Amino acid sequence: MCHGPRCLWDARRTHNEKGVGDGLREALHTGIIKREDLFIQTKCVANILVWALALTALQHGFTPAKYQEVEPLPYDRSAPIGEQVAQNLRTSLKGVEYFDCVLLHIPYQKKEDTLETYRALEKAVNQGLIQHLGVSNIYDAEELEWLIANTKVEIEVVQNRWNDHTKWDWSVFEVCRSRGIQYQSFGFLKSEALVNDEHLLSLASKHKITPQQAIYKLCQVWGMTPLCGSTKTTHMREAFSVEGMTGIKADDDDVKKVWEDLHIGVLGSAAESEDARN
Ligand SMILES: NC(=O)c1ccc[n+]([C@@H]2O[C@H](COP(=O)([O-])OP(=O)(O)OC[C@H]3O[C@@H](n4cnc5c(N)ncnc54)[C@H](OP(=O)(O)O)[C@@H]3O)[C@@H](O)[C@H]2O)c1
Repeated sequence: MCHGPRCLWDARRTHNEKGVGDGLREALHTGIIKREDLFIQTKCVANILVWALALTALQHGFTPAKYQEVEPLPYDRSAPIGEQVAQNLRTSLKGVEYFDCVLLHIPYQKKEDTLETYRALEKAVNQGLIQHLGVSNIYDAEELEWLIANTKVEIEVVQNRWNDHTKWDWSVFEVCRSRGIQYQSFGFLKSEALVNDEHLLSLASKHKITPQQAIYKLCQVWGMTPLCGSTKTTHMREAFSVEGMTGIKADDDDVKKVWEDLHIGVLGSAAESEDARN
């Protein structure tokens, strides 16, 4: 946060809530940042709701990473999904007012169950506890369209793995693009095919940036919000430094060539999208 980031996200499944909670608390207490200047996004997943962790981390200090698995659970495991969400919220919201955004981490096998969880999140939005909603790891464009058609609070964010393993997720991205849903991409730096793509390397060299920076910029040029998953301050700085860069445009030759490489499969499209869910 000292270096500029104002949007933070975490997830219980990625075991980073302790760090995020500790960092937030320190930044708020030392005055580095005010709550209203932050965008805090987290995720909830079937039967395991993450917000209690982040909220209690903010409110009461560090909460053990396994909080939700330690009995008693903050909800009745046998209760219907919607009731679990409501119960969890009641026990979690002790003073911290809201999350900026909560994503449903992974859709259920049955889309009706996904909708039921989303309904509970909608209720929390109506109560002012969450400002925006979204879905993550949804790789079936039809499933997304179905959900969009059945939700009352609109889906404003889709956060998906965007690399060879999801065949670059073009169909879901297209739904998002056409409907004005923010598409948050992650996992792209793990694609060696992309990082080493000759047209990407040429673009990076021309603009004197690293291939990774070029990818962040391309995501932006193409209308995605790229997530930065670095553990190094230097890499974070590199990511943020290309944000305001204006020299790279969608109709540049190199940019069009990388786009084509991604679409015609030069950069790989091996695994089933199911593998991408985590
Ligand atoms: N919705 C979900 O289910 C889900 C799942 C996974 C992740 N995510 C989100 O996606 C975000 C990104 O995570 P990710 O794991 O996919 O990260 P990533 O951005 O795909 O890759 C991170 C890797 O790239 C390296 N890296 C980062 N910036 C670099 C740079 N400028 N130059 C060279 N190497 C660089 C990192 O190493 P260093 O640490 O050394 O920089 C790390 O090895 C996470 O913060 C997480 O919130 C969401």
